[in-house]
Amino acid sequence: MDILVVGGGGREHAIIMKLAESKKVGKLYCTPGNGGISKYAECFDVAATDIEGVVALAKKLKVDMVAVAPDDPLVLGMVDALQAEGFKTFGPKKDAAIIEGSKVFSKELMKKYNIPTAQYEVFDNSAEAIAYVKKQNTYPAVIKADGLALGKGVILAQNEEEAVEAIHSMIDELKFGKSSSTIVVEEFLTGPEVSVLSFTDGKTVVPMISSMDHKRALDCDLGLNTGGMGTVAPNPYYTEDIAKQCMEQIFLPTINAMNAEGRTFEGCLYFGLMLTPKGPKVIEYNCRFGDPETQVVLPMLDGDLCEIFEAIYEHRLADVNIGWKEGYCTCVVMASGGYPTSYKKGYEITGLDENGQVDGAFVYHAGTKLADGKFTNNGGRVLGVTCTALTLQGALDKSYAAVKKINWEDVHYRSDIGQRALKALESTDPLELGYKEDMEEYIEENGVYLRQ
Ligand code: AMP
Ligand code: GLY
Repeated sequence: MDILVVGGGGREHAIIMKLAESKKVGKLYCTPGNGGISKYAECFDVAATDIEGVVALAKKLKVDMVAVAPDDPLVLGMVDALQAEGFKTFGPKKDAAIIEGSKVFSKELMKKYNIPTAQYEVFDNSAEAIAYVKKQNTYPAVIKADGLALGKGVILAQNEEEAVEAIHSMIDELKFGKSSSTIVVEEFLTGPEVSVLSFTDGKTVVPMISSMDHKRALDCDLGLNTGGMGTVAPNPYYTEDIAKQCMEQIFLPTINAMNAEGRTFEGCLYFGLMLTPKGPKVIEYNCRFGDPETQVVLPMLDGDLCEIFEAIYEHRLADVNIGWKEGYCTCVVMASGGYPTSYKKGYEITGLDENGQVDGAFVYHAGTKLADGKFTNNGGRVLGVTCTALTLQGALDKSYAAVKKINWEDVHYRSDIGQRALKALESTDPLELGYKEDMEEYIEENGVYLRQ
């Protein structure tokens, strides 16, 4: 099968590397792709959100399947457009992608079908939202834009002033455009977060190995929220008991709820979970593979990704063997200094080769450009330095050894990826660990890494 992958980040690089392992796969194409991907898949200049352009490209290349990875084209209906032209696809159709495209939709779905999540109210009027927040008078207050906002649409307001500002900026000033004309104000939940990606064809749901993202820009979970600065898999907080509970209370009910709504979900459904003292609750759904979760999940997959994509399309996922390798996988994201706000592009990256010059490491490209044989930084998140090993410490040591050999001006990365997971592995009761407290020792030894 010749396959076109739509997207151009580390996640797409990981998808392409896994597809390349399959005996079923012929030619691989990617649009827009990036410098690193171009070695494995021919890349094109069609934007990931350009539905007509992607359909035309798929026709020109006569591919057998198109896998759509990012949220925007899925929510815009790219899969519907491709299927209308007779292509096999991987990814949900528009009416199912709304599970990520609208927080109001996903919150109402969870309420209607009793799927555990934070309490919430919906507003499209700022005065009413402000009155509600003032009446609740509990902080942090969680304020979310209804629509897509590049992962930045959630504000945790620490006090009334911040909450009022967040509400005005979203509803009145349309900080995220139409995406924030309606907002969700929800209860603040506490507990460790777990990402569980799953394969589903609407009949069967197969959770992938769990993972832990590190969303804040700086060590010890300080700084701004980002798309994700690093990941580890599996997530040690996600025990077998919790997995069972999630399957019964969250995963199956969600798949069934989408079917009952006439919005069967086919593709990768991402469950962003929080393990609260009252049990696991859904923080968010994504209608796609996570980034950088995919970079640690797919290397652990013992199975044929092309076969899985085909089986989902043909609604026979139950027949496919899907296993997970022993051990751990870790990904440290190397970003442009200044990310997630402003940063400069175009610096030459030195010390970069495929495995970061460390045996067993692999460097996924997220935002690089290749010109005249040189790689330069070309995005906020630039590289995802990834390793597998039998132990978490072993994987982290290798990831960081490779990270230290790669450099460019203003490079920024977190130096504590996996530290919390290591603490959880050592603890007899990890759910009792508070992050700030158990990181104190780490901060004392290492200082807080604030290089930006
Ligand atoms: P989201 O984009 O919905 O994943 O939210 C981004 C981050 O905000 C999450 O990963 C959480 O760390 C945090 N967050 C979102 N909703 C809540 C909530 N109800 N309580 C506490 N933290 C939250
Ligand atoms: N890493 C979180 C996401 O992909 O949304």
